[in-house]
Amino acid sequence: MAIDYRTVTSLEEVAQILDLQAHNLSTAITPETALTQGFLTVRHDLDILWRMNQVEPSIIAKFENKVIGYALVMLPGFAHDIPVLQPMFDLIDQLAIADINQGKHANWFVMGQVCVDEKFRGMGVFDGLYQKMTEVYRNKFDFAITEVAARNTRSLRAHQRVGFKDIHQYSETITGETWHLIMLHFKH
Ligand SMILES: CC(C)(COP(=O)(O)OP(=O)(O)OC[C@H]1O[C@@H](n2cnc3c(N)ncnc32)[C@H](O)[C@@H]1OP(=O)(O)O)[C@@H](O)C(=O)NCCC(=O)NCCS
Repeated sequence: MAIDYRTVTSLEEVAQILDLQAHNLSTAITPETALTQGFLTVRHDLDILWRMNQVEPSIIAKFENKVIGYALVMLPGFAHDIPVLQPMFDLIDQLAIADINQGKHANWFVMGQVCVDEKFRGMGVFDGLYQKMTEVYRNKFDFAITEVAARNTRSLRAHQRVGFKDIHQYSETITGETWHLIMLHFKH
């Protein structure tokens, strides 16, 4: 199957990302599907996502010219635009993760969300997205950070498989959701 891995270049691709996102939000699927297939928490706004992509483009997988998978690239400067992610950025600050890269000033971004169309799961698209991300960003950034809900075991396993390491775990007081903060070094 010919799947292309590339960076976002058009507003139409961003709209297709949001379409795929809409179908995979925890509010759009059954609890059973969320447990076996994974689920998304953050809903992005078209305008903000387009601006994010103009700064550093996200990675997409396309089949027959349609987006069937994506991994978002979010620079720390966008934390204020997506309030639901602010606690994660605060935590990253508190943990001083940006400084742990052997004491150097590190360049990093947050992998803001990853999703693969259900018809294309288990086919290596997830790995393809991260391979492309590494190829595009390894010379510019030291690492990517993201967080995955503990109950999203499918996503956690896939992230561990491509090399993400656990750096912290915490539970939200209001929702009770437990999150794994994980990071992927690009340089080794
Ligand atoms: C999470 C997601 C991006 C992973 O892509 P994928 O193509 O399904 O991933 P893969 O099939 O390559 O890997 C999934 C891993 O979970 C395992 N897995 C499959 N079903 C599982 C299940 N029900 N429970 C736990 N693990 C499961 C697979 O065996 C594989 O691990 P392995 O390589 O160690 O065997 C995709 O499932 C998805 O988009 N889900 C909905 C949205 C989502 O959850 N996004 C991530 C938010 S953090």
